[in-house]
Order: sequence, then structure tokens, then C-alpha cells
Amino acid sequence: MKYLPINNQLFIKNRAKFVAQMKPKSIAIFNSNDTFATGADSTLPFKQHSDVLYLSGADQEESILLLFPEAIDPNHREILFLTETNEHIAIWYGEKFSKEDATKVSGIKTIYWLSEFKKIFYDLMTEAETVYFNTNEHYRQSVEIETREDRFIKKCKSDFPAHKWEKSGQIMQQLRGVKEPEEIELMQTACEITNKGFRRILPFVKPGIMEFEIEAEFMHEFLRNRSKGFAYTPIIGSGYSACVLHYIENNKECKDGDMILLDVGAEYANYSSDMTRTIPVNGKFTDRQKVVYNAVLRVKNEATKMLVPGAFWAEYHKEVGKIMTSELLGLGLISKVDVQNEDPKWPAYKKYFMHGTSHHLGLDTHDYGELKTPMKANMVFTVEPGIYIPEEKMGIRIEDDVVIQKTGEPFNLMRNIPIETEEIEDLMNQ
Ligand code: GLY
Ligand code: MN
Ligand code: MN
Repeated sequence: MKYLPINNQLFIKNRAKFVAQMKPKSIAIFNSNDTFATGADSTLPFKQHSDVLYLSGADQEESILLLFPEAIDPNHREILFLTETNEHIAIWYGEKFSKEDATKVSGIKTIYWLSEFKKIFYDLMTEAETVYFNTNEHYRQSVEIETREDRFIKKCKSDFPAHKWEKSGQIMQQLRGVKEPEEIELMQTACEITNKGFRRILPFVKPGIMEFEIEAEFMHEFLRNRSKGFAYTPIIGSGYSACVLHYIENNKECKDGDMILLDVGAEYANYSSDMTRTIPVNGKFTDRQKVVYNAVLRVKNEATKMLVPGAFWAEYHKEVGKIMTSELLGLGLISKVDVQNEDPKWPAYKKYFMHGTSHHLGLDTHDYGELKTPMKANMVFTVEPGIYIPEEKMGIRIEDDVVIQKTGEPFNLMRNIPIETEEIEDLMNQ
């Protein structure tokens, strides 16, 4: 891990919040992600399951977290199972958690090797009535492969058919949606690293540069600041590519007179930042580019003010749609007749702004978090309106990450990242 140690009080608090919602006589199990094979003996770099990180900080493959608050043996009320290490293993496979390290990181006193899981778990199941499974309940999840958790669920159901089953997903959505101060600090660090990356590329961008050269500059700055790299696959789309919402090839030349849409965020300690800025390739916005840019910026600023406790995500999106409609009318991109005749299911503004404005942000970029209940203080959302005009080879999105406050406007974690056209131009021409 490149990041600095995290105070384990965060994980102790998080487990206490989860356990408080468990039913009597129940065990909750959280499995790590698999390490994905890519062929021969190669694998993708390991990415820990966000729920395991949230509840234990155990950033290591093949870890299992077991929570059983009513276990008769107090040492078995929380257990972390880890892949075994010793001096020989350390030489071949690098450093893994010792039992002492794992306790320091997680605040969990009982650490067992993975080889002991079956014996301990089967013993504890004789005391338990219910098992919590950690199925993925993100509203956009669409994973087809069988996960480690799925395999565990199958085996557990077949070995213990007389137990009751519960799901952790709902509790995790509720908990992970509202951030602890330590989490907000980690996300602030991620945003600051993104800021450094953005400031690095501004004077670097010139006509003729390739999109992947900009990507490389970001990566350089992220790594030297203890980030593992991009929180998500970055979008560096110049000219028409800015209108392709999921453009990730980043392989075109940036042309004089075009703009570049940069949807780029660093991760830090597995927390995401999620930024979008749109800049002129040659360091000077044309009048037209500036007019559209400032329309997007006004929508972002107005939308941000609506992220307050008690607001509803769906209603908020309708209100943002109204603000965008008024800006698009002002730009002459849609007409009053278009608005009068619009289909309420696909309003006129969707022709130029077809995606959502905000999502929860945290350990996952599109984070776990409740979306149908009123918003709460310390939820972190992105605000990311855009206007895409393919016929003008122009796509502008501006995205900041903000924390809802108890009262007043949200706190902008990206307040230090240049956003006004004048500041961007100045930094590009230094
Ligand atoms: N970068 C992904 C998003 O903005 O949602
Ligand atoms: Mn983004
Ligand atoms: Mn986003």
C-alpha cells in the first residue's frame, strides 16, 4: 500500500454501526474480491471489496471478516481470517499482513489464518440462527461472473439448510452513504491529488499533443502523491470525442481550436475523487466555447445549492432539468416549442444533457448509498452537468465533489481546483 496508515477507530466505529443493526443470534460474513486471472500466470492487480475495506481496512486478497456479536466466546465476536504468511512466503510473494499488523490496521483482536475458517465457522454456526450474506445491491450493478461471495453463499446454503438468511446490502448502503470525518478527510486528499494532476497538465497541453500524453501526466502526478492511480478509467476526449460519454480510448491528437473534456480522478487509500474539467487545447476559449462553458458552470453552481438535508435525489434531478432547460433556451439550442411539446419521460433538454447530475461518491466511484430516502448531512455527491453538441464537435462537462452540510450550502472538496475560464487560461499560458 502506498497510502499512509488510517486510524483504526474508523473501522471500529463502522463495525459498531453495522453490528447495531444485526438481528439476534446472527453472523455476518464479508468476503474479499477474487484476484482476476488474465491468462497464463498473469492476474490483474488486486482490488479489495469496498465493504471489507469499510469494516476492517484489510486491504489484502483472500481476507474474510466474520461478525458475530453474540458469540459465546468473546474472542469470536469479530474475527479476521487472513491468508497465512511466514518468512518463506514473504520472500516469494512479498509482504502480507502478520497477525499483529492486521490487528493494528483493523482494531480486530482475533486474527486467524484462512485455513482455520471452516472449523471456526462451522462451530459458530451451531450457536447462530441467521447468516448475513453480502450480495451486491448497487442500483447499476451488472456483473455476470460468480464472485467469491457467490461461491460462499452457495456452499453455506447447502451446508446449513436450516439457518435463516439475511442481506447486508441494505445496511451497508445506509451506512456507507453517510461518511465519517475520517472518510471525508481521505476523500479530500484524493481531491487534492487530482488538483495537483490538473495543475500539472494545464501548462503542458498544446495543439498536437496526444490524449494519452495527458493521461500519462496525470498518472505521474498521482503516483508520486501516494495514490495507486486513477479511481476509474479516465476519459480524455478532445473535439468530438467529448460527446462520447464513455470514451476511454484516449488515443487522438488534440487539435487547435478544439476543447478537451477531462473526466479524471485520483484514488487515495481506496477512496475515489471524481473530477471533470473541460479546457481549450490552445489555451484560449473561443467566445462560443466560453458562453456554453459558463452555462454549464451556472447549472453546476445552482444544482449544488440544492444538495441539502431532506432533499430527494429524484426531485433534485427534475429541478436540475428545469435549470438546464432554461440555459439551453438561452443558448438557442432548444426552443419554447420543443419544451411545450416535450415528452415528460424524455424532456427536451435531454437532447444535449442526457445523463444524471449526481451520484454518491466514496470507496466506489458510483458509491453505495441510499437514493430514495431524504439526503443527509455528510453524504458526498458529485455534481456533474454537461452540454454536448456533436454538430459543433463540442462537449462540456464540469464535475465537483461536495459534502452535504447540516445547514447551508454543501462543502466543495474541489474548491481548490481551477474552474473559471480566466483561471484555466492563465494557468495554461504561464
Ligand atoms: N467518472 C464517472 C462519472 O463521472 O460518473
Ligand atoms: Mn466523472
Ligand atoms: Mn461522476
